[in-house]
Amino acid sequence: MANKGDHNILVIEDNPGDFALVEEFLLEQIEAPLISHVSSYKEAENILSVKEDPFDIILLDLSLPDKTGMPLIQGIVEISLNAPVIVLTGYADLNFGVKSLSSGVADYILKDELTALSLYKSIVYSTERKRITSALETSEKRARSFARQLNNILEEERSRIAREIHDEFGQQLSGLKMSLSALKKNVGVDSSVEPVIDTIVGDVNNGIQILRQIANELRPALLDKLGLFAAIEWLVSEFKKRTGVASRFYADVNQPVISKMLEINIFRICQEALTNITKHAEASMVNIHIENKNERLLIRIIDNGKGIKDATLHNPLSMGLLNMVERANLIGSKLNISSSADKGTIIELMINTNDEKNINS
Ligand SMILES: Nc1ncnc2c1ncn2[C@@H]1O[C@H](COP(=O)(O)OP(=O)(O)OP(=O)(O)O)[C@@H](O)[C@H]1O
Ligand SMILES: [Mg+2]
Repeated sequence: MANKGDHNILVIEDNPGDFALVEEFLLEQIEAPLISHVSSYKEAENILSVKEDPFDIILLDLSLPDKTGMPLIQGIVEISLNAPVIVLTGYADLNFGVKSLSSGVADYILKDELTALSLYKSIVYSTERKRITSALETSEKRARSFARQLNNILEEERSRIAREIHDEFGQQLSGLKMSLSALKKNVGVDSSVEPVIDTIVGDVNNGIQILRQIANELRPALLDKLGLFAAIEWLVSEFKKRTGVASRFYADVNQPVISKMLEINIFRICQEALTNITKHAEASMVNIHIENKNERLLIRIIDNGKGIKDATLHNPLSMGLLNMVERANLIGSKLNISSSADKGTIIELMINTNDEKNINS
């Protein structure tokens, strides 16, 4: 019994006998399939370049007059407009079959074993698998874009709170300090109130310090005033002060002009990496090094601590590590963490500074 449904099929086959057989099998299983037939790579290229709606499936013979084997597979997968490609071949080479599957082919069928039913099953499985993968890809894209939006909102919110703490609350405390100084001038020199005022001034000064620190942690003013390199240098010097660990920041390149979004994400990655080193690494040496590598910015955060266990590295619950990877994804980069027991950890981030969207704010 023929099966219904939209079946828009491209058969790429140069042998007329083989095509006739495939066509017969398709007609046996599918009601009114739309079959297009080409017999060379060139013709396939032509039909795929002018077609507006993609094919549901492509059946590909592995040896065509103008292209064969792996280059043919790679070529067709590339121009397939996302249609699943099923390879039909006369050669029983299992290794090649496996390799072709990893090149993006949906299925690999031997012509000798081909029946109407096996062909139909392969078509149904391949299209269904493609549908599920596409749905997954779409949902992953949505999740990514949602994460990007959330990240932006979070950074904006932090920035706003930092500004308000600094400007509003900071001003209030500075005002209070001035009032206390005025008060001190007005009380008598021997007044017993004077030491009390001094204590309050001391407390207010502490308060101002703490406020500055909170505001800086929320959004380092240096990042906006002097840019990424100065902000990372500050981060490293704060880390050194806090932990006493020998730490160094050095950049072999001038600071490139990059977007604020890129700057803040790189800064946050360095911040999380240093926090992790403080909490977990037991390191005695830490370096953040920035260099130019093949027209890209390579940022490396290196510690000589106890290293991260493989299982931890791949643990989906390692939220701090995952966050770093996610931030790198958000800026179109890739984070690489290499670590081995007692040999420390190297976190590498490669940034394409020529990318249009990385330059504009
Ligand atoms: N530089 C490092 N050296 C040694 N171990 C590390 C280092 N960085 C991370 N780890 C290990 O990896 C684990 C996961 O790190 P992650 O940042 O994801 O979580 P966390 O720091 O424990 O918690 P969170 O970041 O959520 O507050 C840590 O618990 C620690 O065992
Ligand atoms: Mg952490």
